[in-house]
Amino acid sequence: METMKIAERVGQLSPSPTMAVDAKAKALVAAGRDIVNFGAGEPDFDTPENIRRAAVEAMEHGHTRYTAVGGIQALKAAIVDRMKLDSGVAYHPDEILVSVGAKHSLYNAMMTLVKPGDGVLLPVPYWVTYPEQIRLADGLVQPVAIDPAHHNELHAQDLLKNATRATRGLILNSPNNPSGAVIGAQTLREIAQLAVDNDWYVISDEIYGRLVYDDTEQVSIASFPGMRERTVVINGVSKAYAMTGWRIGYAAGPKSVITAMSNLQSQSTSNPATISQYAALQALTGPQQVVSEMHREFDRRRRFAVSRIQDIKGLSVVAPKGAFYLWVNMSAWVGSTLHGRKILNADDLALAWLEDAEVSVVPGSGFGMPEYFRISYATSMDRLATGLDRMAEYLERGQA
Ligand SMILES: Cc1ncc(COP(=O)(O)O)c(C=O)c1O
Repeated sequence: METMKIAERVGQLSPSPTMAVDAKAKALVAAGRDIVNFGAGEPDFDTPENIRRAAVEAMEHGHTRYTAVGGIQALKAAIVDRMKLDSGVAYHPDEILVSVGAKHSLYNAMMTLVKPGDGVLLPVPYWVTYPEQIRLADGLVQPVAIDPAHHNELHAQDLLKNATRATRGLILNSPNNPSGAVIGAQTLREIAQLAVDNDWYVISDEIYGRLVYDDTEQVSIASFPGMRERTVVINGVSKAYAMTGWRIGYAAGPKSVITAMSNLQSQSTSNPATISQYAALQALTGPQQVVSEMHREFDRRRRFAVSRIQDIKGLSVVAPKGAFYLWVNMSAWVGSTLHGRKILNADDLALAWLEDAEVSVVPGSGFGMPEYFRISYATSMDRLATGLDRMAEYLERGQA
């Protein structure tokens, strides 16, 4: 008999599927297999040298103690400046909360805004963490399917179709993980109008905002009339500055909401690591050239991978406008048998590729679309080419 019972709210949680696949791929690598890993949700670059140095200096200058719960003033001020520059929205430092990564910022926001029974609209595909956090807050996940004719792009009508009397809030993620879709200014304006008319709160995760391609414009929904007071914007340094391990994210929103989120943080984690805060301060205020260098390289890989996938039998992809993922449709293979394996969805295909073709992708089930899979192109051009070749070969020879 089990002595300790797990509380239901945690017992029902699914572990992050993106991390599960990554762990399996890493275990195979550890066992000596040459796996091309397209699973990672993090840049493959090292954290820039000036940022690492700032962390060392912070330690040497004795910045090794607790800080204010919501972060040091200098970092909040740098975030305010960055947000003004990127989205034109002016925040006061009291409207900023620094947390242990953007995932933690999201958690604080969900716990603070989502009341039991609140319907929360969640466009599909969604990043795997959102539905679990909505449920943790006792909210009701309201998935919003995107019209397939719209090439992964959310339209305001899609939201309206799925809203019910229970709907109180909306999660936006643009650029989107996993699809790379970016919501344009006109659509955001329409969504903003809906949110105002229906009195919805909005959690807008803009963590990939610095990674948009071609002439795509990144716009924050908080910049539209009536939105600043009903939106919590989530961002962080993990993706733009290759700082995933430093664990610094932030939220910006109305002071009353940020204060409540800060109270929650004060009773759960306290301040994010002091040394990491100083590193993030350097990231935001130091030379920004590294962001454009990484951007240029991601763009080069994106173009290559999109055109390569379009040549692979039975796979299709809409060229992403942002982030560093490709969201690939494999529905043409559903119901087929490949190398003796029955393929019913992308989970089956991902497992087949991992075990038989030494390439790891993330199946779409955790993102709400089981006939798609995600490829991260945050890996070298060389590995990208090798992995895509392996995938192609496996499919092309599979039915022989
Ligand atoms: C859409 C999205 N939001 C938030 C995060 C979390 O970022 P962090 O590492 O800062 O917690 C991720 C990471 O994969 C993400 O893809």
